[in-house]
Amino acid sequence: MINPFFFLRSRFRARTAAIVSLLAIMSGSIPTENSFASGSITWKPFGKVDDQDVKLYTLTNSNGVSVSITNYGGIVTSILVPDQNGILGDVVLGYHSVEEYVAGSPYFGCITGRYANRIANGKFSIDGKEYQLAINNPPNHLHGGEKGFDKQIWEARAVAGKERSSVILTHTSPDGDEGYPGNLKMRVIYTLTHQNALRIQYYAESDKKTVVNLTNHTYFNLAGEGSGDILKHRMRIVAGRYTPVDENLIPTGIALLDGTPLDFRKATPIGKRIGEDHDHLKFGLGYDHNYVVGDARQETPSLVAVVTEPNSGRMLKVFTTEPGLQFYSGNFLDGSNVGKSGKAYEYRNGFCLEAQIFPDSPNHENKGEGYTTAILKPGKTYTQTTVYRFDVVKPK
Ligand code: GLA
Repeated sequence: MINPFFFLRSRFRARTAAIVSLLAIMSGSIPTENSFASGSITWKPFGKVDDQDVKLYTLTNSNGVSVSITNYGGIVTSILVPDQNGILGDVVLGYHSVEEYVAGSPYFGCITGRYANRIANGKFSIDGKEYQLAINNPPNHLHGGEKGFDKQIWEARAVAGKERSSVILTHTSPDGDEGYPGNLKMRVIYTLTHQNALRIQYYAESDKKTVVNLTNHTYFNLAGEGSGDILKHRMRIVAGRYTPVDENLIPTGIALLDGTPLDFRKATPIGKRIGEDHDHLKFGLGYDHNYVVGDARQETPSLVAVVTEPNSGRMLKVFTTEPGLQFYSGNFLDGSNVGKSGKAYEYRNGFCLEAQIFPDSPNHENKGEGYTTAILKPGKTYTQTTVYRFDVVKPK
């Protein structure tokens, strides 16, 4: 069972947050010596970016499960989880050094923002004023632009608690950054629990009306990174609707999944229908779709996807507060990224489940289609929580 902490009333969650903050203050600034270990947190140098040192933090729980996160882009570089026989395997795609991430990464493991996924033609308006963003995925804006949050060095602090340990990342994106209005102050907390759950909490505040949509872009392969394609993984997504896209992967509304090869309400191998002749599979070269997993943002996360890998027996459950979940089957991987185990990541060697507000929402939210607003007003706090929880399939 997942720690009930995550799903209890907001009063209880607020108290938990207060305890975490207190511990954070007590832990002081990030230690500057090598090999610092505090509870189940260790860190080591991870290389340099623009002459600045970057660190790699590893959180390990009482089951030996560990998650490594660098403060460059908030990238989750590795997650070690047991298979059915208790053998640990690294289930996320990534690299050994920060230099490799800088040299070229299809958003491996990172925080994407200010706006995760696409904004059509890089344009949106707030109160009649039009904003033009970078067109880094012609003709659209993708994942925050040329230098999104995935390419920023975040301030980091490690916090060891009894039940869980966390890395707290903070970053301020200045007014006009990549074309977005408002100084945006952010805090992202990665927490590993003893129940094998990685919880990611995002908070943001702005001094001007802006749009915000933060997510994490980890590529998973539950058989182990570098072990080939993910087509045998069985996917279940708790959604009866999705946002169909045009040929540039911009949503055109909301539609039912009934009768389409995109329907994953029943657990189905990813490869079973991926080759079917269907416009929406052609446009994204496979699955690259936003599933409607909720009508609006919720206060507490609920279960939106379950993935199992038959050979290892590993299972991943995704819980989120967000109304959308992007299922991307790694269709743009082409062997040009050589990962941690020295193997090239080929076509469909990893999948992402990105919890989010719907792509291009700033251009849809006034059309009455049911898109959640991405607008953040001054004085308000943006929050999103997503939990990736690992388990193994119980023997029958
Ligand atoms: C998201 C998008 C994909 C692709 C990847 C990054 O998942 O939906 O179309 O851009 O990011 O390669």
